[in-house]
Amino acid sequence: MKKHIILFAALLLSALGAGAQVAVNADSASLTPAQKCIHHPRHYTEEQMPEDNPIIVDRLEEWKDLKFGFMVHWGIYAQWGVVESWSICSEPWITRDGRDYMTYVQSYRALNKSFKPTKFDANRWAKNAADAGMKYVVFTTKHHDGFCMFDSKYTDYTISNKSCPYSKKIDSDVTRSIVETFRSKGFWTGLYFSKPDWHCPDYWAPEWATPDRNVNYDPQQDPERWQRYCDFTYNQIYELTHNYGPIDILWLDGGWVRPEWSITPEIREWLGCRGYVQDIDMPAIAKMAREKIPDLLIVDRSVGGKYENYTTPEQQIPQSYMPQPWETCMTMGDSWSYVPNDNYKSTNTLIHTLCDVVAKGGNLLLNVGPDAYGVLPERAVVRMKEIGQWLKINGEAIYETRPLMPFVDGRWRLTQSKDGKTAYAIYLLDEGEAMPEVVTLPKFDRNPVKVSLLGKGGSVKMRQDGSNTELYVHPSESNHAVAFKVQFEKTKKGR
Ligand code: GLC
Repeated sequence: MKKHIILFAALLLSALGAGAQVAVNADSASLTPAQKCIHHPRHYTEEQMPEDNPIIVDRLEEWKDLKFGFMVHWGIYAQWGVVESWSICSEPWITRDGRDYMTYVQSYRALNKSFKPTKFDANRWAKNAADAGMKYVVFTTKHHDGFCMFDSKYTDYTISNKSCPYSKKIDSDVTRSIVETFRSKGFWTGLYFSKPDWHCPDYWAPEWATPDRNVNYDPQQDPERWQRYCDFTYNQIYELTHNYGPIDILWLDGGWVRPEWSITPEIREWLGCRGYVQDIDMPAIAKMAREKIPDLLIVDRSVGGKYENYTTPEQQIPQSYMPQPWETCMTMGDSWSYVPNDNYKSTNTLIHTLCDVVAKGGNLLLNVGPDAYGVLPERAVVRMKEIGQWLKINGEAIYETRPLMPFVDGRWRLTQSKDGKTAYAIYLLDEGEAMPEVVTLPKFDRNPVKVSLLGKGGSVKMRQDGSNTELYVHPSESNHAVAFKVQFEKTKKGR
């Protein structure tokens, strides 16, 4: 029970964090006193508590073993090399190079008529991801702009509809190719799906303006229309969970579509002056999805409760260890979508990010946006290969590990094997920096008796000086980060 309460508090905090983060960009027009009033649920319902179904709890433990995933934002927007979806949204932070809004939106929407990614090859992507050492994929089947990268019978706005030139290809359903290819190579498969759909007339009703990201009518005033939208969403998620084999993760974005109980004052501010409640009926969606895939992980981002099985800090790494399952999603460049000459982070930074995330108990979901032809930019692929080379040597300190106190200590990032018998101490090196000849290991609760360098075997020379353990390392042994395997004295219990 206590564990429950801690988990719940952590989830709630992280939901607030996500809301506050986006609030920077939100329309913070003045709130009415009623909207400002503190909204605290008096008692918690089933839906508000974290999932405790053992099938899901166990599955999360398996998911935690994967550590490193591949996120792909890909849609019609790649043709213009612009931000995914957002340029058709009227919020003050969005610019369109001064272009007239109506003309812009019309041409953006028509991008389905020219989308023809002739070089798309799911095998290539899967090979690139495998080379990087990634273990799961999360693909944008539908972003906020509503264009479906899968075959949906509930809209014509899809890659396999005849309005899109790519539909002429027999396997135009790229979601199918991605899911089947990655699955066949041992990856877990995750589907990103945007709850808000800016193309659907039951979300952005065409007879009114669309002042921001939200639904542009009050669902409470027009419950029939909102119900149509709920049915549409339910049906599309039905397709994704029933037509593509057993997917592993349903990754739901667009946290402003959320039930009333989850609307804190901060979130209410983020929702904008009208603050409509947009309850999509997640219990029904989850029930339907889990009837087909009982161990499906559901990530109803930032909402908290039963259907946010893990939290997803975006473009950031928590300050310290977090006990609940979590995943940092992060762009390799500055953008989620393909933009020409994106400013990719260095391999060194990316490896350090992975080590930092894993030491704090999370997974890293690293995003690369393919171009309009369906090709992953070469500069990104080079970095993926380099991360993979590092992981080939040091992966033992990353995959299937668990955090170890004190998690982070100066340059050190710590992990341990699941049985607790072995610790891993990763020393982060700056670009081109050589490993110092002598380093002091962080203090553990037991005495190290043997230390070796991953990928090398043998023992590293060490000296105990009081409670300090000094390691003597050959300075040439440096490449972004150096991982030591630490073994301890056996206790009486044989641990
Ligand atoms: C941000 C972006 C959204 C993207 C998401 C991925 O919320 O606005 O476009 O899909 O991050 O985490």
